[in-house]
Amino acid sequence: MFLSRSVSSARRLVVASTAMKPPLNGVSEVVSSTRNGRSFASSGMIRKAPLTTPLAAPNNHRPSPKSTLMPEEDTDRCEDPFHSRTASSSVGRTRWLISEASLSNDDRSRVVLLVLNADDEALTRRYEFPAIWLRDNCQCEACFHAGSVSRVLNWEQFDVERVHVAAVQPVDGGHSLEVLWEGAENGAVVHRSVYNVEWLLERSFRQEDSEAYLEEWYRPAPELWGAARFHEVIQEFSYADVLHEDEALRQWIEALIRYGVVMIKNAPLTEHECRRLANRVGFIRKTHYGEEFIVKAKEGTSNVAYLSTPLQMHTDLPYYEYKPGCNLLHCLVQSKDAGGGGANLIADGFYVAERVRREHPDQFRLLSETLVNWTDIGEDEGGKFHSIYRAPVICIGRDGQRLERINHSVPQRGSHFCVPIEQVDRWYRAMHRFVRILHEEAVQFRTAPGDILTFSNIRAIHGRTGYRDTVQNTRHLVGAYLDWDEIYSKLRVLKTAANKGPKEMESVGG
Ligand code: OGA
Ligand code: ZN
Ligand code: ZN
Repeated sequence: MFLSRSVSSARRLVVASTAMKPPLNGVSEVVSSTRNGRSFASSGMIRKAPLTTPLAAPNNHRPSPKSTLMPEEDTDRCEDPFHSRTASSSVGRTRWLISEASLSNDDRSRVVLLVLNADDEALTRRYEFPAIWLRDNCQCEACFHAGSVSRVLNWEQFDVERVHVAAVQPVDGGHSLEVLWEGAENGAVVHRSVYNVEWLLERSFRQEDSEAYLEEWYRPAPELWGAARFHEVIQEFSYADVLHEDEALRQWIEALIRYGVVMIKNAPLTEHECRRLANRVGFIRKTHYGEEFIVKAKEGTSNVAYLSTPLQMHTDLPYYEYKPGCNLLHCLVQSKDAGGGGANLIADGFYVAERVRREHPDQFRLLSETLVNWTDIGEDEGGKFHSIYRAPVICIGRDGQRLERINHSVPQRGSHFCVPIEQVDRWYRAMHRFVRILHEEAVQFRTAPGDILTFSNIRAIHGRTGYRDTVQNTRHLVGAYLDWDEIYSKLRVLKTAANKGPKEMESVGG
């Protein structure tokens, strides 16, 4: 059920008091813009309308010399990054045939394939596949259930010490590999597996192929941006296109993954559009504030002044271990505050973290190793809650390098700080550094009614300037969250569907 009451008072327990200097030192005035609104997709599905509210670049950076929001040279990349990238992967659209299959000389633990390009036989490649992996991934009906794309091999009886290849050979004119498996006792063949060559090459163990697969099908790498580049990276999509055209939906998701922030324009002015957008991808991520929430100053309550005060830059809900991945903020009514109040602030938290890593490595280490207690205590439609999650401000992945998640929220950083006392001062200095750089890299703009600002809640850091809320001058946003699991999943579904078209047409055309 959609609740029209404001829940935002509970969502942010503390905001900067007016006596405090709002942390916008590095964020500039709105600059005038001469951006052209131009169509950039050859399909004609996506239109780049000019932003109705000018975007601001910070005053310590000159605005990008490009006057368009989307530089022309980006056009190709946006149109179909999938096809251009697959062409360079090991499989691509080339037809490969197995010319030789053998076992590794040493311990016969690997199957070695020589494959050649069907269109240019001089072009050959050597691939190795571990025998144990091949056995585990047999595609026969007893081992693999095609309908559910799932392994059904009985692992309770699978003895990894007794997997032995009896023989390997190319079959089906080199289109497939046959592997015969020995039984444990007398060496008799007990199982036969056949693998399609394309299926094998798509699962190549070569490092560059694994990397290409991960980039293409797991998670494309983000492209980080500082304030000076914001105008180059911010893309706009029409709400109707995203809702009705798969190509537009795919491009929006790809931009969200790449840049962490994307604008959607011209959504109807109802309170249900975030839900419709979320349903187009997957489903809303519910939190203890419910599914959709209203960001609005509540008239006649003690919260009015409180809710229109500046909202310091933050990530939402850092006290969740499984923090909502992506924010949808739909502007229904924007403040008409002459001073530009009610504007959005946003920065690429990954870019900020990389600057800290490069310029102040010791402080980066402190911010990425010190566990902070993020908390939220209160009551909302789902009842009382008392959330605590401990995590650093900068979370890095298991490889010790890759940025995984940024947590930053002054209101939601708990007062319990369970670290050795001698670390405290150093951590505060590092945090001060982080916030200074954050504000240097923040941009400011004001969304207009119909805009849905979409951004990664694990990467982007956002906030809002204060505004004067009166009966004649109100502000009304609706927000909701989406999880990255659903977003990535939808992207793969869309890519698979888009790839079927050209492939089928190719085979029809010979
Ligand atoms: C929030 C928030 C932004 C805004 O409610 O968490 O970031 O523009 N709001 O009011
Ligand atoms: Zn099998
Ligand atoms: Zn927020």
